[in-house]
Amino acid sequence: MEEYSKKTLDHFMSPRNMGEIKDADGVGTVGNMRCGDIMKVYVKVGKRSKYRGPSTEVEGTSTEEQVPSKLGTRNSELGTEDFIEDIKFKTLGCAAAIASSSMMTEMVKGKSLDEAAKVSKDDINKELGILPKVKYHCSILSAEGFQKAIEDYKSKAGKLIS
Ligand code: FES
Repeated sequence: MEEYSKKTLDHFMSPRNMGEIKDADGVGTVGNMRCGDIMKVYVKVGKRSKYRGPSTEVEGTSTEEQVPSKLGTRNSELGTEDFIEDIKFKTLGCAAAIASSSMMTEMVKGKSLDEAAKVSKDDINKELGILPKVKYHCSILSAEGFQKAIEDYKSKAGKLIS
């Protein structure tokens, strides 16, 4: 019988970001047809400058207008991006579903929306140290829940192209 990795057990025993965000910008609810388990993912989306390097504070300017010292361009010229400011999940599911949800939240938190959207069920599974084959479908739940939460955010923000 295949066993859970140490990382999976750690995320199951001490899940990260478990709970609810009351004023979430997006909520994704998914169910697993195979086992009947359900999961809710809540996201809070923030806005930040795309510039990630060192900056020189210029007195009397906003953070947005401060001059990155090396590039010599203003942050505002690089534009802004949406990012995952906070994420929480609630699940009525098995150990693998809890562990993969916990891992997923750690993998996407702080990432830009575009980067976070690229995190797949395989990435989550790999990061956990590969779930036993019979439990692979459980990692799908967290990835799908997150994608649905992003879709919900985009549709509320009027960003969904239908
Ligand atoms: Fe249902 Fe794992 S057995 S999500």
